[in-house]
Amino acid sequence: MGNVDTMFDLEEAAKFVGLNPDDFQVKVSDLKVPGWKTGEFKKSVLSKYFETENTDGFDSSVIAISNQKGGEGKTTISLYLAEALSENHKVLLIDWDPQANATQLFLNDDVPSIMDYLGYRGKKSKHIEPAIRTVSTNFDLLPSTLELANLTTPYERDDFELLKEAILPLRSSYEFIIIDCPPSLGLILENALICADYILVPIQTRAFSLQGIRDLYETIQKIQRKANQRLKLLGAVLNQYEGQKALAGLAEGVKKYFPVFETVIQRRESIPQAQAKMSFLSKIDITTMKNFRELAAEVKEKINVQKN
Ligand SMILES: Nc1ncnc2c1ncn2[C@@H]1O[C@H](COP(=O)(O)OP(=O)(O)OP(=O)(O)O)[C@@H](O)[C@H]1O
Ligand SMILES: [Mg+2]
Repeated sequence: MGNVDTMFDLEEAAKFVGLNPDDFQVKVSDLKVPGWKTGEFKKSVLSKYFETENTDGFDSSVIAISNQKGGEGKTTISLYLAEALSENHKVLLIDWDPQANATQLFLNDDVPSIMDYLGYRGKKSKHIEPAIRTVSTNFDLLPSTLELANLTTPYERDDFELLKEAILPLRSSYEFIIIDCPPSLGLILENALICADYILVPIQTRAFSLQGIRDLYETIQKIQRKANQRLKLLGAVLNQYEGQKALAGLAEGVKKYFPVFETVIQRRESIPQAQAKMSFLSKIDITTMKNFRELAAEVKEKINVQKN
C-alpha cells in the first residue's frame, strides 16, 4: 500500500485540528510538528500530535523496555539496543528509573532533576530539551535522578501523561526513543506506558517467574484499554540465555502472554564488564555487540509489520 495521506496547508491544517491559524502556528513551531517550516502538513501527522484519532503519523517510534521484576536486563537491553540502533538512526535513550543506572554509566557530573521539567505537584513544566545530553554520535540521553522516585501519586488527571507531554516536542527529532523503565508497577511505569508506542519485555531466563509475567501482562492490558490504545506489544526478549535445553519449555510459558523474539541475548561476561568500565559495548566485545545488532534488526522488522 502506498501512503494515501492527505496534505493540508497551514489554514486547512489549523481548521482540521480546531485551532485558529495563529494559535496553530505557535503550537506547531513549539512542538516542531513535521511541516512547521514548510507549512505543509500530513493529515496523519496532525492526527497524532493533536490526537484527533489514533494513527501512526510520527516519524519516531517510542519503545518502553519494561518488566516490573528487578534485574531482568531492562537497562542492559535499553543501552545496547540504543547503541545498535544509533549506528544507523538518531536515538534518544530516556533513563526513566530513579536508580539512574543508565545515567551513571555515561555521566559523572550532577544533572538537573528530571522533576524540574515535568510539571508535577503544582510546578510549572519546562521545555525538556536543555536536559538532554549527547553521549555519542546519533545517541542522546535524557538523564534521571533519584528525585524521580517522588513521582508516586497522581494528583491530577494529567499526572499520567507527564512524560508523554514532555517528549512531544522531541518526537520529530529522533527515529527511536527508548525508555528504560524501573522495576515497579506504579505511576512512573504508567507514565512510560502511556507515552510509548511499543513495549519490549526483557526476561531473565535463569530465574524466571510466570506470575511476574502475568502481572505485567495485566498492567499492559489495562493501559491499552484505558489510557493508550496505540501501545503495541513487540514481545519478550529472553536474556542471559545459556543453552538450548531450558529454552523450549520457558518460551512456551512466556508465549501464553507475549510473542517471543527470535533473537535471544546470550549471557556474556563482557556485558557487566562494559558497564563497570562505563564503556560502549562495541568498544569491548564486538561479538556481543552483534547479538544486539540482531535484536535491533528484529525490533525494526516488527515495528515495520505493525506500521503497515
Ligand atoms: N546478557 C547478560 N549477560 C551477562 N550479564 C548480564 C546480561 N544482562 C544483564 N546482565 C547483568 O545483570 C545485572 C542486571 O541487569 P540490568 O541492570 O540490565 O537489569 P534491570 O532489569 O535493568 O535491573 P533493574 O530492575 O534493577 O533496573 C547487571 O549487572 C547486568 O550487567
Ligand atoms: Mg535497570
